Amino acid sequence: MNDVFNEMDVWFADLHLKNPCIIASGPLTSTPEKIMMAEKAGAGGVVTKMAIPEPMDKKMRAWIHTSGLFSPSDERLPVKKAVKLVSAVRKSTDLAIISNILAFDVDSWVGLAVSMENAGAHAIEINMSCPNLPSEGSDKKFLGQDRKAVKKLTKDIVSHVSIPVICKLTPLAEDIASIAEACRKAGADGVTAINAPLGAPPLDIFNGGRPVLPGVNAHSFGGITGEWIKPIAMMCIAEIADRVDIQIAGCGGIMGWRDAVEAIMWGATCFQINTAVIMKGFDVIAQILNGLEGYMRKMGYSDFDSFRGIALGYLKPSSGIRFSDLRFEVDQTLCNGCGRCGVFGHCTAITIDETAVIDPEKCLNCGMCMQICPRDAIVCLPG
Ligand SMILES: Cc1cc2nc3c(=O)[nH]c(=O)nc-3n(C[C@H](O)[C@H](O)[C@H](O)COP(=O)(O)O)c2cc1C
Ligand code: SF4
Ligand code: SF4
Repeated sequence: MNDVFNEMDVWFADLHLKNPCIIASGPLTSTPEKIMMAEKAGAGGVVTKMAIPEPMDKKMRAWIHTSGLFSPSDERLPVKKAVKLVSAVRKSTDLAIISNILAFDVDSWVGLAVSMENAGAHAIEINMSCPNLPSEGSDKKFLGQDRKAVKKLTKDIVSHVSIPVICKLTPLAEDIASIAEACRKAGADGVTAINAPLGAPPLDIFNGGRPVLPGVNAHSFGGITGEWIKPIAMMCIAEIADRVDIQIAGCGGIMGWRDAVEAIMWGATCFQINTAVIMKGFDVIAQILNGLEGYMRKMGYSDFDSFRGIALGYLKPSSGIRFSDLRFEVDQTLCNGCGRCGVFGHCTAITIDETAVIDPEKCLNCGMCMQICPRDAIVCLPG
């Protein structure tokens, strides 16, 4: 393994991680075999697949799209299986093992947390945000939308275990920062932001709108993940980092090292990935870590603290942004007339003959042509 990974260690929620890349709870962390693959691939830690008090008949179903996954269901680990998994991977790996738990009443939440601590988990992740299971103990759709219920549950669990407690939050809360604050006040050591938001499944439009997922007889809304949710996840990280004094594991749409840098710039201490590995395999972990390390070297950042949270300095409400006039021009020596910049429906400023020309009178200053040009032929100048 690359030595550099050892220089990238972070402390998150009192856990020492050899690097900030954690495999999120899901189908990648349900067996010792896959957790060992994650370790071999360089991960800094794993959050094991959701443990529940009683067996539940659920199977993984997911719809893959270039921008992410839609998943209405996955297997759950009944407590006995989860205990076996955690004790096995504590023996066979050196990874930080965080146990993701979900129950339906106070006693079983606490019992589950204690069982996972006894099995050897280094920390508990309270799943107050599962998009596929209802919440009990609250009249909200998700427990993580209810500040009082979150505070009570977190307090109950914190007072019964001696390992760190992390709360996994839903982006569907009205104000995620106030939920994170409730977790902090109740003694949580960190939060994971975010779990998958809900979305509608794809339809078989040539077959009466039936499900397209194989082997299901009906639709349900389900979790959406990957690129689809990155802007929501980054906003949640930023909201929490800006207002709450608690460490954050950024999660949602981190598909490559640039996304990881953004999560840290918004204030995350570490990050969790799921869809990136599901779609691209375990090798993506080394790509992300190598990319992150190369980026830090290039930028002269000696550690994560050098750039953690720096984007928050530019965060303002929309009403607080000043817009300056710009001028966009085509460098005729670079343009090859490919036509890519001429496709936008909102733009009547560009004409393409042999090369592109921009009419400044019609230009809206949006800047999109500059972003799309494959030859960097469009320059932005003060207006
Ligand atoms: C098939 C599947 C199963 C998941 N299972 C769990 C789970 O058991 N517990 C949990 O907290 N989150 C679960 N998640 C959510 C992920 O941990 C993660 O929060 C989400 O996928 C967003 O990250 P990503 O964009 O990197 O995938 C699951 C997601 C998927 C797609
Ligand atoms: S996208 Fe760039 S290279 Fe292509 S026509 Fe426009 S300016 Fe020229
Ligand atoms: S900046 Fe926007 S409006 Fe102006 S030329 Fe480019 S795409 Fe058109």
